[in-house]
Amino acid sequence: MAITGYIGGSLVVERLNKSYQVRDSEVAALQDINLSIGEGEFISIVGASGCGKSTLLRIIAGLENGHDGSVKLGDRRIAGPGLDRGMVFQEHRLIPWLTVEQNVAFGLNGLPHGETERLVREHLELVGLSGFAKAHPHQLSGGMAQRVAIARALVNQPKLLLLDEPFGALDALTKIQMQQEILRIWEVEQTTMVLVTHDIDEAIYLGDRVVIMSNRPGTVKRLISVDLPRPRDRSSFEFVQLRREIYAEFFAEAEKPFAYAI
Ligand SMILES: Nc1ncnc2c1ncn2[C@@H]1O[C@H](COP(=O)(O)OP(=O)(O)OP(=O)(O)O)[C@@H](O)[C@H]1O
Ligand SMILES: [Mg+2]
Repeated sequence: MAITGYIGGSLVVERLNKSYQVRDSEVAALQDINLSIGEGEFISIVGASGCGKSTLLRIIAGLENGHDGSVKLGDRRIAGPGLDRGMVFQEHRLIPWLTVEQNVAFGLNGLPHGETERLVREHLELVGLSGFAKAHPHQLSGGMAQRVAIARALVNQPKLLLLDEPFGALDALTKIQMQQEILRIWEVEQTTMVLVTHDIDEAIYLGDRVVIMSNRPGTVKRLISVDLPRPRDRSSFEFVQLRREIYAEFFAEAEKPFAYAI
């Protein structure tokens, strides 16, 4: 059962273009991105390094400006950061001198003390870290620190959770455990999830759909539905077929000349 009444968020990105000014020239980072993500859907985004995945996530998070097009969560246009969106990065970004519970509580402003305590406790339970509330970040393993980062991102009960390579720095076994964990959390909370990953297996294991982006400029090249029951068997015929299909798109992309525009 969900902790409280989370409301899922449908995300609609339309005709999104983003360029960066680098010295005298404009570098197109994203070109004509159109995406419609359903409430409670889990979307994985894969694409070559530099194709604009983080830029897209930062725009959805409201951390970037100077782009054209529209990004809407539910019926509200995104024009800046907001508590309706949570974000988890590759590095945990915890504050070293605060305890785990203080880190999770950090973004919860203006709530009565008892309410803050309850939300922090429930979210630490959700990520399996109840026993570590008083620990400091340096006392945690990489996987545990990422769990705290997930709890911190979810404590405001966002409609949408944005994950930018959240397990990229973890060892293979911890990564698999964390993938199972995020799936469990998603099933419980029904938060809409957008995950950027370099790991094609991770994208297929987790996503309802996989968005494949092309590079320079970053566009949506293909959307692949993963119509496989969960938990998914990574060695099943269907899974392997999807992996092959996505790799083929990657290899086609890799054959494009690698040209830095700056
Ligand atoms: N602040 C910035 N100023 C100028 N160019 C930028 C800036 N941020 C990103 N870029 C450029 O935009 C493009 C997309 O970058 P982005 O970080 O979104 O890629 P990415 O797909 O997340 O890559 P990676 O997989 O390596 O994390 C790159 O060409 C990058 O150099
Ligand atoms: Mg990135």
